[in-house]
Amino acid sequence: MKILMVCLGNICRSPLAEGIMLRKIKAHQLAWEVDSAGTSGWHEGALPDRRSIAVAKAHGIDITDQRSRQFKHIDLDNFDLVLAMDSSNYSNIMRLANTDKQKAKIHLILNFLYPNENRAVPDPYYEGGFEKVYQMLDESCEKVVQSYI
Ligand code: 4NP
Repeated sequence: MKILMVCLGNICRSPLAEGIMLRKIKAHQLAWEVDSAGTSGWHEGALPDRRSIAVAKAHGIDITDQRSRQFKHIDLDNFDLVLAMDSSNYSNIMRLANTDKQKAKIHLILNFLYPNENRAVPDPYYEGGFEKVYQMLDESCEKVVQSYI
């Protein structure tokens, strides 16, 4: 299973999701891969936001090897699951998908926890709430793992 986590900037939410999922992959000894990307290229090459680095570190996860990159069309072929943080990320990715196979890979990550509710992982960039975001991502990543192992 190859999973791509997607948010807007690829500096706050999706780097945390990548770090959390990587730890679960290792814990379960799964031959899975995970990466993350942003629908915008605004922070291309940047480290995760220092607040995401801090909350990950508080939970024993180092995400400082990650660098922001923009989502690209080929990601829809290279990955099996493309997990969006909110409805805006979701529709921006969905707009790029041209086949049913590509479209079927794209999901809101919280729909694994709350099926069909279309809930969003709130953007913490301006409002904060990184610990809450961490908890939402930890629970939803666990559901993703349990759904496919
Ligand atoms: P992310 O958060 O999508 O979770 O990485 C954001 C990061 C940067 C901006 C917005 C959201 N920004 O406006 O630069």
